Amino acid sequence: MLKRGIYYCHRDLDRILDCVEKGKPFYLYTGRGPSSGAMHVGHLVPFRFTLFLQKAFNAPLVIQITDDEKYIWKNKQIGQQKGFKDKLSYFYHLARENSKDIIAFGFDPEKTFIFIDTDIMGGNFYKNVIKVQEMVTVNTINKIFGFKAGDPVNCGQIAYPAIQAVPSFSSSFPDEIFGGKQLPCLIPCALDQDPYFRMTRDVAHRLGEMKPSCLYAKFIPGLNGPKGKMSSSSSTEGTLFLTDTAKQIKKKINKSFSGGGATLAEHREFGAKLDQDVAFQYLTFFLENDEKLSEIAHRYSKGEMLTGEVKRVCIDTMTPILMDFQERRKTITDAMLDKFMTVRELQLPEYTAVTKSES
Ligand code: TYM
Repeated sequence: MLKRGIYYCHRDLDRILDCVEKGKPFYLYTGRGPSSGAMHVGHLVPFRFTLFLQKAFNAPLVIQITDDEKYIWKNKQIGQQKGFKDKLSYFYHLARENSKDIIAFGFDPEKTFIFIDTDIMGGNFYKNVIKVQEMVTVNTINKIFGFKAGDPVNCGQIAYPAIQAVPSFSSSFPDEIFGGKQLPCLIPCALDQDPYFRMTRDVAHRLGEMKPSCLYAKFIPGLNGPKGKMSSSSSTEGTLFLTDTAKQIKKKINKSFSGGGATLAEHREFGAKLDQDVAFQYLTFFLENDEKLSEIAHRYSKGEMLTGEVKRVCIDTMTPILMDFQERRKTITDAMLDKFMTVRELQLPEYTAVTKSES
């Protein structure tokens, strides 16, 4: 994903690399807003990449599940419509189910703490939340998040960004988690989360904290084309869910937006527009074989390869990824989830400093 430019921009990544060179530990922080029971292939991007970073650096990881965020933003009736006692119990349920999905990506239970906001709020966490809230004016929130005068914004929506900010500071966690140490933080996610972390970085020094470093990915497009959004809450045709069956994957990819020519003759003459072609774009995210990808890019853009063939490669790439995920997901139990959510000391890596030439 780095080589392909999918993770394409950062803030202060150098500081984390310096840590590694000096043999000092850091931690990873990422998250999920549990808007529905089924996560989608867009979510594979940050979570697979975070898993890679955890393994590559042996790094401890915290994962925030924001049931509060979804409660504050989503329609009032949704809990009862879905057969739950109320809206909050609905989002809490989704928070636990999504956490099981996340565990199924393969995170290390000795190094990963998953927490739900409405569980963790209190103690060190809440102390940092109010410090951030004191420091950020409503005007700043309006500017960063694009709220305008007259928008029906509630207090919770204004107050929430501080809650997404504080896991960037190791002091927000119960002392056991990092053994009371102050550690630098690296946040891998897609670019849409940057407003939260710009805000966080603005206040960090004034709070005596380190600015978090960030590593941002591009958005994977929806099935309807480069402008279509992939959404897990509105059940759309445009979304490839992690829970889709092999039959659904095939059907959805076959119907996905194509960058190929409108007729065979046009396609042969002008070739495909790779940046518009959903199946090809998915391959840039998920097909590991570089040679095969560049051969497809070459032949498809020249019109030698047809849309149907590219879609077939995409189906053959996505199906095993999703089937493998679904098999692992079946094995995740409540007891496993409780282990990931228990406050305990996370294993910190023992690095040795590397010399410049080695690095
Ligand atoms: P959420 O649940 O919308 O998204 C979870 C993660 O997936 C990324 N993402 C995507 N990446 C690539 N292509 C897509 N189509 C796509 N859609 C979503 C998001 O950038 C995110 O990394 N407010 C957050 C929850 C959160 C969080 C965090 C996320 C709390 N703390 C720290 C990242 C880092 C949210 O609702 O994410």
